[in-house]
Amino acid sequence: MAKQAFEFNKDWMIGPDLIHYDAWKSYYEGKHRTISDLVGVNVIGEIGVRAGYSARCFLESKPNARFIGYDYYAGAELGHGITNDILLDQAKKNLEGYSFEIKVTDTQNYYYLDVEAVDFWHIDADHSYLGAQHDLELALSSLAKGGHILLDDVGNSKQIAQGTEHEVRRAAEHFIKKYRLHYKYIESLTGEYLIWR
Ligand SMILES: C[S@@+](CC[C@H](N)C(=O)[O-])C[C@H]1O[C@@H](n2cnc3c(N)ncnc32)[C@H](O)[C@@H]1O
Repeated sequence: MAKQAFEFNKDWMIGPDLIHYDAWKSYYEGKHRTISDLVGVNVIGEIGVRAGYSARCFLESKPNARFIGYDYYAGAELGHGITNDILLDQAKKNLEGYSFEIKVTDTQNYYYLDVEAVDFWHIDADHSYLGAQHDLELALSSLAKGGHILLDDVGNSKQIAQGTEHEVRRAAEHFIKKYRLHYKYIESLTGEYLIWR
């Protein structure tokens, strides 16, 4: 029997985000596709969990994986009735039934994270050059052999063509060069790099 296509579910979203559903649907389905193409993913890490939308997509693909997420729930884009408590509660709701842990902490304060052998990292938090570089270093230091890092917000092709300066992309390119890593660009709403050793 053919495998049923994955669909990003409106029920996973908080009310004020629903206005973005059409734009975000293919973006989150892309996240699911990216992890689905990888084998041997037992530990998933994420820096920048927010309401757990990406996390849910990853776990829908790898339901037996252990998820560890970091978010300080202090600097998210709020407004429209969204509070940090609402975001954290929604993340917990979205990950219910899976093996997960969310650490409410600022990753910029750490040289190492308390996690090892992460097979798949999703980096989607501080979008400054130094912030992104810092989170990439944290991810690499705890990456399992054969693991991958998915970095969000490197810019989509339209933004790149317009010459929009993306601090995250610049940080990624320096990081990739420094450690002689491999990478693949993934076109999406925000543009992503899949990075591996
Ligand atoms: C774009 S949102 C993440 C969206 C989420 N990955 C998703 O796809 O549904 C960015 C998140 O990063 C978090 N963040 C930003 N800087 C951070 C830091 N220094 N430490 C921990 N979390 C941070 C914010 O609180 C926010 O929730």
